[in-house]
Amino acid sequence: MPRKFIVGGNFKLNGSQDSLATLVEGLNKGSLDSNVEIVVSPPFVYLDQVRKSVRKDVAVAGQNCYSKASGAYTGEVAAEMLKDLGIEWVILGHSERREIFKETDDEIGQKVAHALKAGLKVMACVGEKLEEREADKTTEVVFRQLAAVAKHVSDWTNVVIAYEPVWAIGTGKVATPQQAQEVHKAIRGWLKEKVSAQVAEATRIMYGGSVNAGNASTLAKEEDVDGFLVGGASLKPEFVTICNAKAKM
Ligand code: PGA
Repeated sequence: MPRKFIVGGNFKLNGSQDSLATLVEGLNKGSLDSNVEIVVSPPFVYLDQVRKSVRKDVAVAGQNCYSKASGAYTGEVAAEMLKDLGIEWVILGHSERREIFKETDDEIGQKVAHALKAGLKVMACVGEKLEEREADKTTEVVFRQLAAVAKHVSDWTNVVIAYEPVWAIGTGKVATPQQAQEVHKAIRGWLKEKVSAQVAEATRIMYGGSVNAGNASTLAKEEDVDGFLVGGASLKPEFVTICNAKAKM
């Protein structure tokens, strides 16, 4: 079965009730390719607003969630709470969580385990920093991050991998299609070796890092690029163009 192209919009720490209402209106009016799965991820406090207002063929994701269902964890949000709001997805292990909030591979693995158990679908993010790429450590880093996730996954049906080179996130410095394809292919190879050929074939690998309306269709042509995780451009009208990038080919 061909892998369904998937495009996520990660709004990060951006938006207000008004600006998200406008953004949702744009999506609701836009003509979106029905062969593409679309997921938008507003900040926690706007999840309910967006879920209730956005068209039903667009899914909604949390940008994070904790590895426990409830308890004395001030400031955290549980996967179960996202489910309760009708949220289907969660982004875990984003490089900003890793870098700024010091989340470790192991914590991310625990979060993935808990989110899947709670019934959420997971976008598990991996990616190397510039100095790691320059030291030829890209696959070493990405495989280490993948292994920490894989340890907790027995069924890959609800997992999508997002390869996001840190040096490309929010920098305007997009990976070339060749650079993206090379790592995506390596990730698929890793899945084949460490998990199974079937999982390697079926699991979608999104690319993230400065994707915009201008570069999306070229990146989408690469064999192992099964979608995008979009930050900055997901807040703009061009997000619709990115969602349709695969269709234009
Ligand atoms: P960007 O962010 O598109 O703004 O580079 C991507 C991401 O962090 O998911």
